[in-house]
Amino acid sequence: MSKLALFSLVASDLKRVDEVIALDTVCCQDVVTAISRHLNASGGKRLRPTLLLLSARACGELGDGPIRMAAVMETIHAATLVHDDVIDNAEVRRGSPSTNQVWGNQVSVLAGDWLYMQAFSIALRERSFRILDILTDLTKMMVEGELLQAELIGRIDVTEQQNHELIHRKTACLLSACSLVGALMADASEETEERLRTYGWNVGMAFQLIDDVLDFEASESVLGKPVGNDLKEGKVTLPMILALQSCTRAERAQVETVVRERGYTSVPAVRMLEILDRHGAIAEVRRRAGQFCEIALESLSGLPETPYRRALEDAAGHWAIVRPS
Ligand code: IPE
Ligand code: IPE
Ligand code: MG
Ligand code: MG
Repeated sequence: MSKLALFSLVASDLKRVDEVIALDTVCCQDVVTAISRHLNASGGKRLRPTLLLLSARACGELGDGPIRMAAVMETIHAATLVHDDVIDNAEVRRGSPSTNQVWGNQVSVLAGDWLYMQAFSIALRERSFRILDILTDLTKMMVEGELLQAELIGRIDVTEQQNHELIHRKTACLLSACSLVGALMADASEETEERLRTYGWNVGMAFQLIDDVLDFEASESVLGKPVGNDLKEGKVTLPMILALQSCTRAERAQVETVVRERGYTSVPAVRMLEILDRHGAIAEVRRRAGQFCEIALESLSGLPETPYRRALEDAAGHWAIVRPS
């Protein structure tokens, strides 16, 4: 199935998700409405709503429930991005100036709070404690992930375990909640719920690993955010964690300099790529992403053969291996 086919299956659903978001994120304070519009108009892959919709449809639920919950998940995602860009002092998001850049930190923090709460209000309309449980646990996990990230900033001694914990919290949990909620909306069996939860989690882990690879390899026009940015923000991600395990003292000192200077003033960015390359770090991270992807695909095996299941299979390959766009 081509990428186009994957999207065309949920294209009209995604349009409706955007309509729900536009209608439901109107705030009496115009600035919040403007921030939500700005984020949605700037783009974004809509990965989370797509996974939720495909999961629900793959379980046979063809009604509107998944559209409402897809809007909830995208709004939670938007709230985390608004807060994250304040925390990271980011300048660009989705190829446009970030919220903090346009409206400042104070307004952005409050708009992020409002978006979180609005997402919960929309979710409450389902009158489901199970969904509420999932969303509150998820939000706490993600906030704890940002706190862990703050603890690890500027450190080049980050371990593989700490990195695993971080990407589990900041990315995989949200994607697994999306596919799980999709299954819930379809009243799927416990076994199917578990299969889809596992699918989303593994796609999420692979997706974040590839995101970390692309931070070194891709271009800003493709990513919609600056490249080589993680080290500039003091974040040592898995490719560099692995390279640091076998690099020379001189190489280690260069990585340390970039992280300390928060930029490529004394050491050029291309040097980081050379170090990663010399230690086969990018290839190893891609291999690990591939393993998560395999597990994601296996976990779909019990689902009925439908175009939606095929699309979920394709989505795993597309986002976790090829990416982006
Ligand atoms: C950004 O997520 C945050 C990460 C987990 C890397 P996406 O890369 O899915 O962001 P959008 O929604 O497409 O902008
Ligand atoms: C993404 O974290 C934000 C969350 C998932 C909370 P990062 O700071 O690592 O991602 P980008 O690079 O800003 O998208
Ligand atoms: Mg960030
Ligand atoms: Mg961050």
